[in-house]
Amino acid sequence: MKIANFGVEEWLNKYEKRAKIDISQSSISAFTLEELLNLDGTSVEEFFKERATLSLDYGWIEGSEEFKRLVASLYQNLTEENILQTNGATGANLLAIYALVNSGDHVISMLPSYQQLYEIPKSIGANVDFVELKEEKNWSLDLEELRAKIQSNTKMICLNNANNPTGTLLERSDLLAIAEMAREVDAYVLVDEVYAPLGEGDFVSIADIYERGISTNSLSKTYSLPGIRIGWVATSAEITEEFRKYRDYTMICGGVLSDELAIHALKNKAAILRRNKKIVAENLQILKNWVESEPRVTLVAPNFVSTSFIKLDIPQKDEEFCLDLLNETGVLLVPGSAFDRPNHARVGYCCKKEELLKGLELLSDYLRKFDK
Ligand SMILES: Cc1ncc(COP(=O)(O)O)c(C=O)c1O
Repeated sequence: MKIANFGVEEWLNKYEKRAKIDISQSSISAFTLEELLNLDGTSVEEFFKERATLSLDYGWIEGSEEFKRLVASLYQNLTEENILQTNGATGANLLAIYALVNSGDHVISMLPSYQQLYEIPKSIGANVDFVELKEEKNWSLDLEELRAKIQSNTKMICLNNANNPTGTLLERSDLLAIAEMAREVDAYVLVDEVYAPLGEGDFVSIADIYERGISTNSLSKTYSLPGIRIGWVATSAEITEEFRKYRDYTMICGGVLSDELAIHALKNKAAILRRNKKIVAENLQILKNWVESEPRVTLVAPNFVSTSFIKLDIPQKDEEFCLDLLNETGVLLVPGSAFDRPNHARVGYCCKKEELLKGLELLSDYLRKFDK
Protein backbone atom coordinates (compact mmCIF):
# COMPACT_ATOMS: atom_id res chain seq x y z
CA MET A 1 0.00 0.00 0.00
CA LYS A 2 1.77 3.16 -1.21
CA ILE A 3 0.97 6.54 0.27
CA ALA A 4 2.11 10.11 -0.45
CA ASN A 5 4.15 12.05 2.11
CA PHE A 6 1.92 13.95 4.57
CA GLY A 7 2.89 17.56 3.74
CA VAL A 8 2.00 19.37 6.94
CA GLU A 9 3.10 16.63 9.33
CA GLU A 10 6.38 16.14 7.47
CA TRP A 11 7.10 19.87 7.64
CA LEU A 12 6.33 20.07 11.36
CA ASN A 13 8.27 16.91 12.21
CA LYS A 14 11.29 18.37 10.47
CA TYR A 15 11.20 21.93 11.73
CA GLU A 16 9.05 22.46 14.83
CA LYS A 17 11.78 21.68 17.33
CA ARG A 18 14.02 24.27 15.64
CA ALA A 19 11.47 27.07 15.99
CA LYS A 20 12.13 29.83 18.49
CA ILE A 21 8.74 31.36 17.84
CA ASP A 22 6.19 28.83 16.73
CA ILE A 23 3.15 30.38 15.06
CA SER A 24 2.48 27.34 12.89
CA GLN A 25 0.51 25.00 15.17
CA SER A 26 -3.20 24.49 14.90
CA SER A 27 -4.03 23.59 18.51
CA ILE A 28 -5.10 26.22 20.99
CA SER A 29 -2.19 26.79 23.41
CA ALA A 30 -1.73 23.42 25.16
CA PHE A 31 -2.45 22.96 28.86
CA THR A 32 0.22 21.82 31.26
CA LEU A 33 -0.80 18.85 33.37
CA GLU A 34 -1.05 21.13 36.38
CA GLU A 35 -3.23 23.68 34.60
CA LEU A 36 -5.58 20.95 33.42
CA LEU A 37 -5.96 19.37 36.84
CA ASN A 38 -6.29 22.73 38.60
CA LEU A 39 -9.36 23.62 36.55
CA ASP A 40 -11.61 22.25 39.31
CA GLY A 41 -9.13 22.70 42.15
CA THR A 42 -7.57 19.21 41.86
CA SER A 43 -3.84 19.23 42.61
CA VAL A 44 -1.32 17.09 40.74
CA GLU A 45 -0.51 15.29 44.02
CA GLU A 46 -4.18 14.53 44.75
CA PHE A 47 -4.83 13.27 41.24
CA PHE A 48 -1.93 10.82 41.27
CA LYS A 49 -2.37 9.81 44.90
CA GLU A 50 -5.96 8.81 44.20
CA ARG A 51 -4.72 6.72 41.31
CA ALA A 52 -1.66 5.21 43.00
CA THR A 53 -3.13 1.71 42.98
CA LEU A 54 -4.65 2.01 39.52
CA SER A 55 -3.63 -1.00 37.51
CA LEU A 56 -1.74 -0.04 34.36
CA ASP A 57 -3.39 -2.80 32.38
CA TYR A 58 -5.20 -2.19 29.09
CA GLY A 59 -8.17 -0.72 30.94
CA TRP A 60 -11.38 -0.04 29.01
CA ILE A 61 -10.86 -1.23 25.48
CA GLU A 62 -13.33 1.10 23.74
CA GLY A 63 -12.88 3.95 26.22
CA SER A 64 -14.43 3.92 29.70
CA GLU A 65 -18.18 4.13 30.16
CA GLU A 66 -17.80 7.56 31.69
CA PHE A 67 -15.69 8.76 28.77
CA LYS A 68 -18.26 7.53 26.28
CA ARG A 69 -21.13 9.07 28.24
CA LEU A 70 -19.38 12.45 28.43
CA VAL A 71 -18.51 12.36 24.71
CA ALA A 72 -22.08 11.35 23.77
CA SER A 73 -23.37 14.37 25.70
CA LEU A 74 -21.50 16.63 23.26
CA TYR A 75 -24.02 15.57 20.59
CA GLN A 76 -27.77 16.14 20.38
CA ASN A 77 -28.92 12.67 19.41
CA LEU A 78 -26.25 10.20 20.51
CA THR A 79 -25.65 7.83 23.41
CA GLU A 80 -22.69 5.73 24.59
CA GLU A 81 -23.46 3.07 21.97
CA ASN A 82 -22.52 5.57 19.27
CA ILE A 83 -18.98 6.29 20.54
CA LEU A 84 -15.63 4.53 20.20
CA GLN A 85 -12.42 5.96 21.64
CA THR A 86 -9.48 6.31 19.25
CA ASN A 87 -5.85 7.47 19.23
CA GLY A 88 -6.67 11.06 18.38
CA ALA A 89 -8.78 12.17 15.45
CA THR A 90 -6.08 10.75 13.16
CA GLY A 91 -6.93 7.32 14.57
CA ALA A 92 -10.63 8.01 14.12
CA ASN A 93 -10.23 9.07 10.47
CA LEU A 94 -8.07 6.06 9.71
CA LEU A 95 -10.57 3.70 11.32
CA ALA A 96 -13.56 5.14 9.45
CA ILE A 97 -11.87 5.12 6.05
CA TYR A 98 -10.20 1.74 6.51
CA ALA A 99 -13.47 0.13 7.58
CA LEU A 100 -15.70 1.58 4.89
CA VAL A 101 -13.73 2.38 1.74
CA ASN A 102 -12.63 -0.31 -0.71
CA SER A 103 -10.42 -0.31 -3.77
CA GLY A 104 -12.34 1.06 -6.76
CA ASP A 105 -14.83 3.05 -4.65
CA HIS A 106 -15.51 6.66 -5.53
CA VAL A 107 -14.64 9.18 -2.82
CA ILE A 108 -15.00 12.96 -2.82
CA SER A 109 -12.87 15.27 -0.70
CA MET A 110 -12.59 19.02 -0.30
CA LEU A 111 -9.25 20.66 -1.13
CA PRO A 112 -7.37 22.09 0.69
CA SER A 113 -8.06 19.84 3.62
CA TYR A 114 -6.33 17.58 6.13
CA GLN A 115 -4.37 15.32 3.80
CA GLN A 116 -5.28 12.13 5.65
CA LEU A 117 -8.85 12.54 4.43
CA TYR A 118 -7.93 11.97 0.81
CA GLU A 119 -4.56 10.18 0.85
CA ILE A 120 -5.78 7.20 2.88
CA PRO A 121 -8.69 6.57 0.47
CA LYS A 122 -6.24 6.94 -2.44
CA SER A 123 -3.80 4.50 -0.84
CA ILE A 124 -6.59 1.94 -0.49
CA GLY A 125 -7.22 2.23 -4.23
CA ALA A 126 -10.29 4.47 -4.19
CA ASN A 127 -10.82 7.00 -6.99
CA VAL A 128 -10.76 10.38 -5.32
CA ASP A 129 -12.39 13.48 -6.82
CA PHE A 130 -11.89 16.92 -5.33
CA VAL A 131 -14.10 19.92 -4.82
CA GLU A 132 -11.78 22.88 -4.55
CA LEU A 133 -12.42 25.60 -2.03
CA LYS A 134 -11.88 28.94 -3.74
CA GLU A 135 -10.24 31.81 -1.96
CA GLU A 136 -12.17 34.38 -3.98
CA LYS A 137 -15.34 32.79 -2.59
CA ASN A 138 -14.03 32.97 0.96
CA TRP A 139 -12.86 29.34 0.80
CA SER A 140 -16.47 28.17 0.79
CA LEU A 141 -17.54 24.75 -0.53
CA ASP A 142 -19.55 25.05 -3.74
CA LEU A 143 -22.51 22.73 -3.11
CA GLU A 144 -23.48 22.61 -6.77
CA GLU A 145 -19.98 21.50 -7.69
CA LEU A 146 -20.18 18.83 -5.04
CA ARG A 147 -23.56 17.68 -6.34
CA ALA A 148 -22.14 17.44 -9.87
CA LYS A 149 -19.31 15.20 -8.68
CA ILE A 150 -21.49 12.68 -6.83
CA GLN A 151 -21.83 9.40 -8.73
CA SER A 152 -24.06 6.38 -8.17
CA ASN A 153 -20.99 4.58 -6.74
CA THR A 154 -19.81 7.40 -4.47
CA LYS A 155 -18.96 5.64 -1.22
CA MET A 156 -17.82 8.50 0.96
CA ILE A 157 -17.63 12.27 1.08
CA CYS A 158 -14.76 13.41 3.32
CA LEU A 159 -14.98 16.86 4.84
CA ASN A 160 -13.13 18.85 7.45
CA ASN A 161 -15.37 21.23 9.39
CA ALA A 162 -14.12 23.79 10.20
CA ASN A 163 -11.44 23.44 7.59
CA ASN A 164 -7.71 23.07 8.13
CA PRO A 165 -5.93 25.22 6.95
CA THR A 166 -8.46 27.96 6.05
CA GLY A 167 -10.53 28.00 9.24
CA THR A 168 -13.79 28.37 7.28
CA LEU A 169 -17.02 26.70 8.32
CA LEU A 170 -19.76 24.64 6.71
CA GLU A 171 -22.95 25.70 8.43
CA ARG A 172 -25.95 23.59 9.40
CA SER A 173 -27.82 24.41 6.16
CA ASP A 174 -24.80 23.28 4.07
CA LEU A 175 -24.52 20.02 5.97
CA LEU A 176 -28.25 19.33 5.68
CA ALA A 177 -27.95 19.83 1.92
CA ILE A 178 -24.88 17.56 1.75
CA ALA A 179 -26.66 14.85 3.77
CA GLU A 180 -29.59 14.99 1.35
CA MET A 181 -27.27 14.60 -1.67
CA ALA A 182 -25.38 11.72 -0.02
CA ARG A 183 -28.60 9.97 0.98
CA GLU A 184 -29.63 9.68 -2.68
CA VAL A 185 -26.68 7.36 -3.35
CA ASP A 186 -26.29 5.92 0.20
CA ALA A 187 -22.86 7.54 0.58
CA TYR A 188 -21.20 7.97 3.95
CA VAL A 189 -20.28 11.51 4.98
CA LEU A 190 -17.16 11.61 7.14
CA VAL A 191 -16.60 14.95 8.83
CA ASP A 192 -13.43 15.63 10.80
CA GLU A 193 -14.75 18.09 13.40
CA VAL A 194 -11.60 18.78 15.43
CA TYR A 195 -11.99 22.49 14.71
CA ALA A 196 -15.51 23.00 16.00
CA PRO A 197 -15.75 26.80 16.15
CA LEU A 198 -15.55 28.78 19.36
CA GLY A 199 -17.58 31.80 18.31
CA GLU A 200 -20.76 32.59 16.45
CA GLY A 201 -21.55 30.17 13.64
CA ASP A 202 -24.25 27.62 13.08
CA PHE A 203 -22.18 24.48 13.60
CA VAL A 204 -23.75 21.02 13.67
CA SER A 205 -22.18 17.58 13.85
CA ILE A 206 -22.85 15.33 10.89
CA ALA A 207 -23.55 12.40 13.26
CA ASP A 208 -26.52 14.36 14.62
CA ILE A 209 -28.19 14.94 11.29
CA TYR A 210 -27.36 12.06 8.95
CA GLU A 211 -27.80 8.32 9.52
CA ARG A 212 -24.64 7.61 7.50
CA GLY A 213 -22.78 10.55 8.97
CA ILE A 214 -19.53 9.90 10.83
CA SER A 215 -18.09 12.58 13.10
CA THR A 216 -14.46 12.32 14.13
CA ASN A 217 -13.03 14.49 16.85
CA SER A 218 -10.50 14.66 19.66
CA LEU A 219 -9.25 16.63 22.62
CA SER A 220 -6.30 17.94 20.60
CA LYS A 221 -7.48 21.27 19.24
CA THR A 222 -10.50 22.90 20.87
CA TYR A 223 -9.60 21.27 24.20
CA SER A 224 -5.84 22.04 24.05
CA LEU A 225 -4.70 18.49 24.91
CA PRO A 226 -2.94 17.04 21.85
CA GLY A 227 -0.47 15.20 24.09
CA ILE A 228 -2.97 12.82 25.66
CA ARG A 229 -3.81 11.36 22.23
CA ILE A 230 -7.47 10.82 22.86
CA GLY A 231 -10.06 11.09 20.12
CA TRP A 232 -13.27 9.39 19.11
CA VAL A 233 -15.57 8.42 16.32
CA ALA A 234 -19.29 9.14 16.68
CA THR A 235 -21.83 7.50 14.37
CA SER A 236 -24.85 5.19 14.22
CA ALA A 237 -24.85 2.00 16.30
CA GLU A 238 -24.69 -0.10 13.10
CA ILE A 239 -21.64 1.67 11.72
CA THR A 240 -20.03 1.60 15.18
CA GLU A 241 -20.46 -2.18 15.20
CA GLU A 242 -18.78 -2.40 11.80
CA PHE A 243 -15.89 -0.28 13.10
CA ARG A 244 -15.24 -2.62 16.04
CA LYS A 245 -13.90 -5.31 13.74
CA TYR A 246 -11.34 -2.98 12.14
CA ARG A 247 -10.52 -1.24 15.41
CA ASP A 248 -9.38 -4.55 16.93
CA TYR A 249 -6.67 -4.67 14.27
CA THR A 250 -5.55 -1.03 14.51
CA MET A 251 -5.57 -0.20 18.23
CA ILE A 252 -6.41 -1.81 21.54
CA CYS A 253 -7.07 1.10 23.83
CA GLY A 254 -6.23 4.74 24.47
CA GLY A 255 -4.43 4.04 27.76
CA VAL A 256 -5.80 4.16 31.31
CA LEU A 257 -4.19 7.46 32.31
CA SER A 258 -5.14 9.19 29.11
CA ASP A 259 -8.71 8.03 29.58
CA GLU A 260 -8.74 9.49 33.10
CA LEU A 261 -7.30 12.79 31.90
CA ALA A 262 -9.84 12.90 29.08
CA ILE A 263 -12.66 12.44 31.61
CA HIS A 264 -11.22 15.24 33.71
CA ALA A 265 -11.12 17.51 30.65
CA LEU A 266 -14.65 16.67 29.52
CA LYS A 267 -16.01 17.25 33.04
CA ASN A 268 -14.34 20.66 32.97
CA LYS A 269 -15.46 21.44 29.45
CA ALA A 270 -17.10 24.74 30.38
CA ALA A 271 -13.90 26.12 31.94
CA ILE A 272 -11.77 24.93 29.01
CA LEU A 273 -14.08 26.48 26.45
CA ARG A 274 -14.22 29.74 28.42
CA ARG A 275 -10.40 29.92 28.43
CA ASN A 276 -10.14 28.99 24.77
CA LYS A 277 -12.89 31.28 23.49
CA LYS A 278 -10.97 34.16 25.06
CA ILE A 279 -7.69 33.07 23.43
CA VAL A 280 -9.32 32.66 20.01
CA ALA A 281 -11.20 35.99 20.14
CA GLU A 282 -8.24 38.05 21.42
CA ASN A 283 -5.61 36.46 19.19
CA LEU A 284 -7.85 36.61 16.13
CA GLN A 285 -8.19 40.36 16.64
CA ILE A 286 -4.38 40.65 16.88
CA LEU A 287 -4.05 38.67 13.65
CA LYS A 288 -6.66 40.77 11.83
CA ASN A 289 -5.05 44.03 12.96
CA TRP A 290 -1.68 42.77 11.78
CA VAL A 291 -3.07 41.74 8.37
CA GLU A 292 -4.56 45.22 7.95
CA SER A 293 -1.18 46.80 8.57
CA GLU A 294 0.83 44.32 6.48
CA PRO A 295 0.77 45.16 2.74
CA ARG A 296 2.14 41.77 1.62
CA VAL A 297 -0.50 39.64 3.31
CA THR A 298 -4.24 39.11 2.85
CA LEU A 299 -6.53 36.82 4.79
CA VAL A 300 -10.00 35.33 4.62
CA ALA A 301 -10.63 35.43 8.36
CA PRO A 302 -11.11 32.03 10.05
CA ASN A 303 -14.42 31.38 11.74
CA PHE A 304 -13.23 31.45 15.36
CA VAL A 305 -11.14 28.32 14.95
CA SER A 306 -7.45 28.01 15.64
CA THR A 307 -6.05 27.81 12.13
CA SER A 308 -5.71 30.56 9.53
CA PHE A 309 -4.33 30.71 6.01
CA ILE A 310 -2.63 33.90 4.85
CA LYS A 311 -1.89 34.76 1.23
CA LEU A 312 1.64 36.01 0.61
CA ASP A 313 2.36 38.61 -2.04
CA ILE A 314 6.07 37.85 -2.49
CA PRO A 315 8.36 36.92 -5.40
CA GLN A 316 9.58 33.74 -3.72
CA LYS A 317 8.20 30.20 -3.43
CA ASP A 318 6.32 29.75 -0.15
CA GLU A 319 8.34 26.76 1.03
CA GLU A 320 11.67 28.46 0.42
CA PHE A 321 10.35 31.60 2.09
CA CYS A 322 9.18 29.70 5.20
CA LEU A 323 12.53 27.96 5.47
CA ASP A 324 14.51 31.22 5.11
CA LEU A 325 12.21 32.85 7.65
CA LEU A 326 12.87 30.05 10.11
CA ASN A 327 16.62 30.10 9.56
CA GLU A 328 16.95 33.85 9.84
CA THR A 329 14.38 34.75 12.50
CA GLY A 330 13.39 31.51 14.25
CA VAL A 331 9.72 32.06 13.28
CA LEU A 332 7.89 28.95 12.09
CA LEU A 333 4.92 28.92 9.68
CA VAL A 334 3.63 26.05 7.53
CA PRO A 335 4.01 26.75 3.79
CA GLY A 336 0.81 26.59 1.73
CA SER A 337 2.45 24.00 -0.53
CA ALA A 338 2.10 21.51 2.33
CA PHE A 339 -1.66 21.85 1.67
CA ASP A 340 -1.27 21.87 -2.10
CA ARG A 341 -1.93 25.62 -2.09
CA PRO A 342 1.28 27.54 -2.90
CA ASN A 343 1.72 31.28 -2.20
CA HIS A 344 0.08 30.87 1.19
CA ALA A 345 1.09 29.97 4.71
CA ARG A 346 -0.72 28.59 7.73
CA VAL A 347 -0.57 30.76 10.79
CA GLY A 348 -1.52 29.02 14.02
CA TYR A 349 -2.47 32.14 15.90
CA CYS A 350 -3.80 30.54 19.10
CA CYS A 351 -0.40 30.26 20.73
CA LYS A 352 0.64 32.43 23.68
CA LYS A 353 -0.19 36.08 22.98
CA GLU A 354 3.40 37.31 23.41
CA GLU A 355 4.62 34.64 21.00
CA LEU A 356 2.03 35.64 18.40
CA LEU A 357 2.85 39.35 18.69
CA LYS A 358 6.59 38.72 18.44
CA GLY A 359 6.17 36.24 15.57
CA LEU A 360 4.04 38.63 13.52
CA GLU A 361 6.42 41.52 14.19
CA LEU A 362 9.41 39.47 13.00
CA LEU A 363 7.45 38.20 10.01
CA SER A 364 6.64 41.78 8.97
CA ASP A 365 10.25 42.89 9.44
CA TYR A 366 11.34 39.97 7.30
CA LEU A 367 8.78 40.74 4.57
CA ARG A 368 10.27 44.24 4.18
CA LYS A 369 13.22 42.75 2.30
CA PHE A 370 10.88 42.35 -0.69
CA ASP A 371 10.09 46.11 -0.69
CA LYS A 372 13.61 47.14 -1.67
C1 LIG B 1 -8.25 18.31 10.57
C2 LIG B 1 -7.36 17.61 11.51
N1 LIG B 1 -7.71 16.39 11.94
C3 LIG B 1 -6.94 15.71 12.79
C4 LIG B 1 -5.75 16.24 13.25
C5 LIG B 1 -4.94 15.45 14.22
O1 LIG B 1 -5.70 15.32 15.37
P1 LIG B 1 -5.28 14.39 16.58
O2 LIG B 1 -4.20 15.09 17.32
O3 LIG B 1 -6.54 14.32 17.37
O4 LIG B 1 -4.87 13.09 16.03
C6 LIG B 1 -5.33 17.48 12.82
C7 LIG B 1 -4.05 18.06 13.29
O5 LIG B 1 -3.53 19.00 12.78
C8 LIG B 1 -6.16 18.18 11.94
O6 LIG B 1 -5.81 19.38 11.50
